[in-house]
Amino acid sequence: MDFKTQVTGAAGLAGVAADALLVVVASPALPAALDKPLAAALGAAIDDGDFVFKTGHTLVLRRVAGVKAQRVVFVAAGDGSVKSFRKAVASGVAALKNGGTVHLSVAMVGAADADAAHAEALVLAAAEAVYVYRHTKPSAAAAGKLASVALVCAKPQAAALAAGLKRGDAIAAGVALARECANLPANHCTPSHLAEEAKRLGKDHGLKVEVLDRKDCEKLGMGAFLAVAQGSHEPLKFIVARWTGADKGDAPIVLVGKGVTFDTGGISIKPSGEMDEMKFDMGGAASVLGTLRAVAMLKAKVNVVGIIPATENMPDGKAVKPGDVVTSMSGQTIEILNTDAEGRLILCDALTYAARFKPAVVIDIATLTGACVVALGHHRSGLFSTDETLAADLLAAGDRAMDPAWRLPLDDEYDEGLKSNFADMGNIGSRAGGCITAAMFLKRFTAGQAWAHLDIAGTAWKSGANKGATGRPVGLLTHYVLSHAG
Ligand code: BES
Ligand code: MN
Ligand code: ZN
Repeated sequence: MDFKTQVTGAAGLAGVAADALLVVVASPALPAALDKPLAAALGAAIDDGDFVFKTGHTLVLRRVAGVKAQRVVFVAAGDGSVKSFRKAVASGVAALKNGGTVHLSVAMVGAADADAAHAEALVLAAAEAVYVYRHTKPSAAAAGKLASVALVCAKPQAAALAAGLKRGDAIAAGVALARECANLPANHCTPSHLAEEAKRLGKDHGLKVEVLDRKDCEKLGMGAFLAVAQGSHEPLKFIVARWTGADKGDAPIVLVGKGVTFDTGGISIKPSGEMDEMKFDMGGAASVLGTLRAVAMLKAKVNVVGIIPATENMPDGKAVKPGDVVTSMSGQTIEILNTDAEGRLILCDALTYAARFKPAVVIDIATLTGACVVALGHHRSGLFSTDETLAADLLAAGDRAMDPAWRLPLDDEYDEGLKSNFADMGNIGSRAGGCITAAMFLKRFTAGQAWAHLDIAGTAWKSGANKGATGRPVGLLTHYVLSHAG
């Protein structure tokens, strides 16, 4: 889809050329400044009880007298905040997407002018509203004919809004990649497939991509990652993708994404109910690829390294067993008490590997614990960090991107449960505060680094009737990276 700005002419909104005009009404009553033909139509609808000022409420009208666009859609958007604007656009586009609209124009009335953040939100809402997963369901109806969306504005605003649209477009492309990867079933999205996706990204956008295989990982001594992979017949891949947008010598932001392409639990096998959802257990990896795509599209002047340890977690005659002790790349030994706590095992070696890039910061992203879903539900990702600045920056980026996170603690007291009589640590702590004990495990592999961990178990996908990947936290991560671009 194509996004642009459209400067209003002398005829105002009523004169805007488009197949449909989406009027986002950001006021609690009929806006005073609305063009006459539009004000008449909206006023009548309010009088007749057909339009109410509830964010997302939508009214579609056709052939409104005095209005050039064939269709007019009024959508209520509270006070015009970016959040309510985004919700309104989503409703408006949903109401139109299966109709005949090809060119849509969007305008906000009744509040202060839209700014760059609104422009970005417009793109994200529209892109999300028209996304359809079709890879293994080609019979699914396509998303309709909508091909271009224009944000109506006055001339002085156009440049700032265009920048917002561009940023939104890049983030939307990243989100789409992350959603598509995570929605793919595990027999399609294997570790090898993730590696191919990374290589394609490299070709398309000028990233340097390197893929290590089992032998390489053995040489590096990645005993924890290898232990998870040893039960699977799919070859493991350790993917390293580098975006160099700044000076070669600039310390990079390193993003480490959990890439478990299917998590059965291994020998500590999971119950069968909803086990299909464990194909999303590479959501962290998908968000790293998506973020790299967005950052590269924007040619951000910053260095970013994406690291993805990718494997399945399967039960097998060769699978790792509860009680097995392995040596991680860091040299620390781990007693694998539960083979279903596999995410931290693949991440710990990736975190150790990350140190070779002398990173400015290391952020890992993982669908790590069910406990995080219990703690925070599906709205906010769990954030853990040993670095105050990094934590604050990530929270702020999440707010700006409307991809929010919430910080949880890392007190030493939570480390207690990781003690083992047979190794430097076990791979599980107490069940209580399970997302924190998981983070405490990772923390042991981040000595001396500015590190943060995002537990996205609750936010990377939706369950239920509309089950599927969300593409989060591509928005948060991209905003974070951009805020560090020169
Ligand atoms: N991939 C799961 C976490 C998960 C659960 C993500 C539900 C999304 C939804 C992870 O590998 C896992 O199995 N974690 C265990 C840890 C436990 C064994 C300490 C969990 O959360 O139960
Ligand atoms: Mn697991
Ligand atoms: Zn898992």
